[in-house]
Amino acid sequence: MSLKRNILDLRKRKQEVLQGGGEKAIQKQVKMGKLTARERIESILDEDSFHEYDLFVEHVARDFNMEGKVLHGDGVITGTGTIYGRPVCIFAQDFTVAGGSLGLMHARKITKIMDHALKMRVPLIGINDSGGARIQEGVNSLAGYGEIFYRNTMASGVIPQISVILGPCAGGAVYSPALTDFVFVVENISKMFITGPSVIESVLGEKISMEELGGAKVHSEITGNAHFYAQTEHECFDQIKKLLTYIPWNNGKKAEAFPPQEPTSPVAVDEIVPADPKMPYDVRDIIKSTTDSSDFFEVMEDFAPNIVIGFGRLNGETVGFVANQPKVLAGVLDCDSSDKAARFIRYCDAFNIPIVTLEDLPGYLPGVDQEHAGVIRHGAKILYAYSEATVPKITVIIRKAYGGGYIAMNSRHMRADFVFAWPTAEIAVMGPEGAANIVFRKEIESAEDPEAMRQEKIQEYKDKFANPYVAAAKGYIDQVIEPSETRKMLLHALAVSANKEQTGPYKKHGIPPF
Ligand code: HXC
Repeated sequence: MSLKRNILDLRKRKQEVLQGGGEKAIQKQVKMGKLTARERIESILDEDSFHEYDLFVEHVARDFNMEGKVLHGDGVITGTGTIYGRPVCIFAQDFTVAGGSLGLMHARKITKIMDHALKMRVPLIGINDSGGARIQEGVNSLAGYGEIFYRNTMASGVIPQISVILGPCAGGAVYSPALTDFVFVVENISKMFITGPSVIESVLGEKISMEELGGAKVHSEITGNAHFYAQTEHECFDQIKKLLTYIPWNNGKKAEAFPPQEPTSPVAVDEIVPADPKMPYDVRDIIKSTTDSSDFFEVMEDFAPNIVIGFGRLNGETVGFVANQPKVLAGVLDCDSSDKAARFIRYCDAFNIPIVTLEDLPGYLPGVDQEHAGVIRHGAKILYAYSEATVPKITVIIRKAYGGGYIAMNSRHMRADFVFAWPTAEIAVMGPEGAANIVFRKEIESAEDPEAMRQEKIQEYKDKFANPYVAAAKGYIDQVIEPSETRKMLLHALAVSANKEQTGPYKKHGIPPF
């Protein structure tokens, strides 16, 4: 064959594979409001940057009439491209080809691109849209998932792993996204569950829709499986690109620095916290009063909103914020908020991102529900995560720092590098009301006017403990600062800790209270 004919043959072969599952299947995909796998990859990556690998891979199944059946690309597209000029590895399951189901060669394509990402130390983006294990391929499909899960675990903490759920993601298949760092979901399109509605109906006799069982909202608000929620696929892709501006390409690097910017928040920082300590405020206003251009990229916005986590920049450098949210449940720590914060702290620590903690909480949430849901086990995660983290750790106590909450929220005792307190800080074992009722119970009961005595004792306790100066006198906090000095002190702390080094005792690994 002449070179010209070879080239024409190559083009023809490529053209065939690029048709995916064919026009009918593509139209079905479009009708469901979904982009095709190839459109998704092209929308996420820089224009014309995608290099596809393994285009001509074919399935090897022979049972259940699979012999001779053509499944283009075996239902998954893999390759490399760039985002803002920097390389990433990517795969997208193609639902138009056998429902994006995962057979042996489909899995091999995915594991090959995962190995490549790990070796090249670049982020991996996985787009999931699949009917799960390819039924005709039996144990080979299960083996494929196992190989993926193993690689997710090995790559964890080395390269960023991003999962995008853009269709069904069912059965054990959900565990690959669950093992990755960030999961993105889209309204009406994402569906994640272990056992689907039909199984639930046959086993439990309960009818439930896929959306109610494991739709985008469910995973953003209730389960905590999703970190980012979008209304459309394009909004989701913008979120992915934005996230990648805040995080480093691998655990040996720092996030890319941006030109420093001053905050632009119109809210005066002195006016955010109400004079009455019982009144709520939005801690995001404080975060934005400190960050460059007042940008704050929130993670898991709708799950456990009593704690706020996310990324911002200080003088161009990425930092992770962990902040109690007095607007929701007075900012208490509970099972979900402890889980949410602990994982984020470990993420920041693994990827060289300094952590800024803003503290205002009355402690852990009391109640039988929380105790029985395991608040001891979940609450311990946050202690573990802060203690273990060796990136620069800065705490600002805004208002309440009571009891276990004081210790847990990156106190000096968890090895915070810098602890600053606003003059409004109250650092005590518990709130003045509760403390007065317990410590002065006898005096209050035997007083002529018990209520007047109670108020007097509350005031006495407040004067003594509900301030930052007792802790400052012991050196537990480094400086009491004016609210308007917060950004300046954060910048100072980051500059001082730029070369921080800290090592712990040798261990194979710790045993966190997972
Ligand atoms: C083989 C599959 C498939 C699968 C879908 N298809 N899922 N082929 N194995 N798991 C094929 C269909 O036969 C069909 O082929 C095409 O994909 C499109 O599927 P439809 O059913 O027409 O699409 P839709 O109506 O949109 O329904 C999508 C769906 C449904 C809800 C995902 O297909 C479904 O329930 N699939 C099975 C899901 C499942 O039980 N998977 C196994 C989970 S267990 P044709 O040729 O007709 O176009 C699992 C274990 C993993 O994954 C364990 C890991 C540890």
